[in-house]
Amino acid sequence: MTDSLIRGRLLSFKRAPLAMTDTDSYLYEHDGALLVSGGRITATGDYAQVKAQATADVEEIDHRPHLILPGLIDTHVHFPQMQVIASYAGNLLEWLNTYTFPEECRFVESDHATRIATHFYDEFLRHGTTTAVAYCSVHKTSADAFFAEAMKRNMCMVGGKVMMDRNAPQGLLDTAEMGYDETRAVIAEWHGKGRNHVAITPRFAITSTPGQMKAAEALAQEFPDLFIQTHLSENHDEIKYTAELYPEATDYTDIYARYGLLGKKTLLGHAIHLSEREADALSEAGSIAVHCPTSNLFLGSGLFPLKALRRREKPVRVSVATDIGGGSSYSMLKTMDEAYKIQQLLGERLNPLESYYLMTRGNAEALGMEADIGTLDIGSMADLVILDAGSTPAMRLRMETVKTLPEELFLLQTMGDDRAVVETYVAGKAMKTGLGGDEMQTGA
Ligand code: GUN
Ligand code: FE
Repeated sequence: MTDSLIRGRLLSFKRAPLAMTDTDSYLYEHDGALLVSGGRITATGDYAQVKAQATADVEEIDHRPHLILPGLIDTHVHFPQMQVIASYAGNLLEWLNTYTFPEECRFVESDHATRIATHFYDEFLRHGTTTAVAYCSVHKTSADAFFAEAMKRNMCMVGGKVMMDRNAPQGLLDTAEMGYDETRAVIAEWHGKGRNHVAITPRFAITSTPGQMKAAEALAQEFPDLFIQTHLSENHDEIKYTAELYPEATDYTDIYARYGLLGKKTLLGHAIHLSEREADALSEAGSIAVHCPTSNLFLGSGLFPLKALRRREKPVRVSVATDIGGGSSYSMLKTMDEAYKIQQLLGERLNPLESYYLMTRGNAEALGMEADIGTLDIGSMADLVILDAGSTPAMRLRMETVKTLPEELFLLQTMGDDRAVVETYVAGKAMKTGLGGDEMQTGA
């Protein structure tokens, strides 16, 4: 494979920006380029300087005047919910019981899971997302389809077979023992293959018996390097029912703590309605509260106090995500647009630099993967997104009055969607080009 030189305007974060004026928090190169060799970035910076390091046979791709960013990262998404998006439900529990659980039952069929997996990755690539952390269904077939398709595309993916043994239709239940055995089987088959990572995935306290929580605890002890993902404190009715099911626990967070499920590799979806005690507990454990703004608005779940959680004396680590299909867009740009509006309603400002940090390096740090993804640093995988802030007539018109980089980023976030994604690279390979229309191709 020949090396490639990818030219454009580079933007990559070094750390979390403290304010709009915090220019030290990022690297911006107006006429920049990346040299890519063997799927990784081997040189980065000013075009002429990077070009001087390239061999004569290098393939040069010119994306000027577009922005080159690290591929976007989605830290909470449900693979079997592609055909649940836009279901008309009043709240979380109604949405789960009426639409979501029946739909997930279909993933017992391996043909169905394989077909949806193709579309799942096509949508990610169309939207500039190169890594995601996903829930599969309870069926091992769904995890097999999810990881097989990730390998075909050489994408870095985290996923888990969901463990759930109560409060759902029969076709969606395992048992404590099955949940344990099948998770072990998924680990044995897929963890570390290609760029795949398996996550231990008890869905949430409502759908796992204490016996199954013990099984999840056993897995966490046997495989301390694996991610753990579950849902926490999303909706008031959910919180009330959870307290009835686990009367001995101090609060919702304490349930997961009691089963040894809190740690630095634990991702807790939503975590909207936390008490101070719970926020302290998450902070001390180093666990991640995953903000899913389009989902929280769509299901009417609540307003996640992102800014407040980050600036606590004991700060809570946060990441951002779509939560498809409770979420209503695959786009991380749209996701941060809604995140911005939620902070507005809370009287807070989420500045655009912070948003782009969160979608890239911030989410990579939440996963402990910032040496590999989420930046344009030398040595990083060449997972990239090329963004065009003038991708629609209205955006082009607005661009005429844009003067600064943060203004351009804010326009992209506020009005941009998949049309703003010019190209998506995975390990240096252009993946968006060639994705078809209705019956999309695999891109492999
Ligand atoms: N809580 C438990 N399962 C789910 C799910 O699939 N989506 C959301 N948004 N919340 C959940
Ligand atoms: Fe979710």
